[in-house]
Amino acid sequence: MLNNPNGQPLNNNTLRQILDSHDDGYVLPREFYASDEIYGHDIKSYWNQNWIWVGHVCQLPEKGDFFLFNYGTESIIVARDREGGIGAFINVCRHRGSRVCVEKSGNKKVFSCPYHAWTYELNGSLRAAREMGEGFDRKDFGLLKAHVFVFQGMIFVCTAEAPPNIQSVTSQIESTIAPYRLDRLKIAHEASYPVPANWKLAIENYMECYHCAPAHLEYSKSHSLKDPASMREGLMEDMHSALEKAGVSTASFAVNGAVGPPVGIDLYLETYPLFPGYQTGSKNGEPLAPLLGDLKSFAGAARDLQIGIINNWLIYCDHVVGYRFVPTATQETDIQIVWYVRDDAGEGKDYQKDDLTWLWHVTSLDDERIIRVNQEGVNSYHYKPGPLSDMEWGIRAFYSGYLNQMKQICE
Ligand code: FES
Ligand SMILES: [Fe+2]
Repeated sequence: MLNNPNGQPLNNNTLRQILDSHDDGYVLPREFYASDEIYGHDIKSYWNQNWIWVGHVCQLPEKGDFFLFNYGTESIIVARDREGGIGAFINVCRHRGSRVCVEKSGNKKVFSCPYHAWTYELNGSLRAAREMGEGFDRKDFGLLKAHVFVFQGMIFVCTAEAPPNIQSVTSQIESTIAPYRLDRLKIAHEASYPVPANWKLAIENYMECYHCAPAHLEYSKSHSLKDPASMREGLMEDMHSALEKAGVSTASFAVNGAVGPPVGIDLYLETYPLFPGYQTGSKNGEPLAPLLGDLKSFAGAARDLQIGIINNWLIYCDHVVGYRFVPTATQETDIQIVWYVRDDAGEGKDYQKDDLTWLWHVTSLDDERIIRVNQEGVNSYHYKPGPLSDMEWGIRAFYSGYLNQMKQICE
């Protein structure tokens, strides 16, 4: 298995040749899933340039609360500072580069590097460094900052110098999403499904429901997305009137590369009907938790939200399932799932964790298996990129943003 997280980026000519070898409407060539060098580019030129959903404000209730978000070669400290603001810092010591923080989450007064004890404030500035001699100015050696953006409680981080304008994207959906009160959620459960495959195969799998009918028996009993759009027109009408009764706008959005270039942010918000008898993504169709936010009733709907291809949520009327596909090596990806319920819902009283997580747990086990064997096949020297189905339009949208961004490196 190729497992070197430090693949050095290729020279521009070679990268350009590989990018140009992709045929529109077809899957990507093998290198995109197997080369350490492309993986290096992915981290440096894609993940480090885009906004990444890293968590929720409910994880940082107090001053000094922090958590780490790690991907590829990178680690970001997300912390609430003494003034109550949320900051994000590159977890690399400005002395000799050690990780400064190694705990996953917690509460701290300062961040103290485990190597030579340089100590940083909660806002990233360097507070103390021993024996550095005259002429050393602490002000020059604060932790490098990442940009932070909070949309209705969801925290995004971007390490680019000039990040894409995410606010102009989220402002388009603000009023549509507002009734769900995503800012008033709590985490009911988090799980991680490591899969020995390149992160692009994991995202591609999420971007299409062509595989749902053959691969996801449980999901396909309740979710109409497994069928082509033409088969659910009647259900769509019923769902729209149920959503209106619930007090939610039925607006949908599909904007590829919104507000690009240089880096576009894909925005996607669409709602799919559940089959009759299903109020939410539960085994028996019954509600799993109290209605979210300002909703007045259940609507038998599942809402797909994507703010940038790598940040995904599935919003039901009573819970939200967040999805991340975090690269950890060329062929290692951590599929991270977060289940949210209303912040005042009590476990065991208002919701049962096992019932709440059942569907996306079994579905993710299926996905882990199909993504793993997908990578095994793609690793074959006999692999040839095949044509995409009409039901795989989401993969084309991913390719267009990803390839455009990679091509910019070569210019
Ligand atoms: S590497 Fe952090 S104090 Fe030396
Ligand atoms: Fe799936």
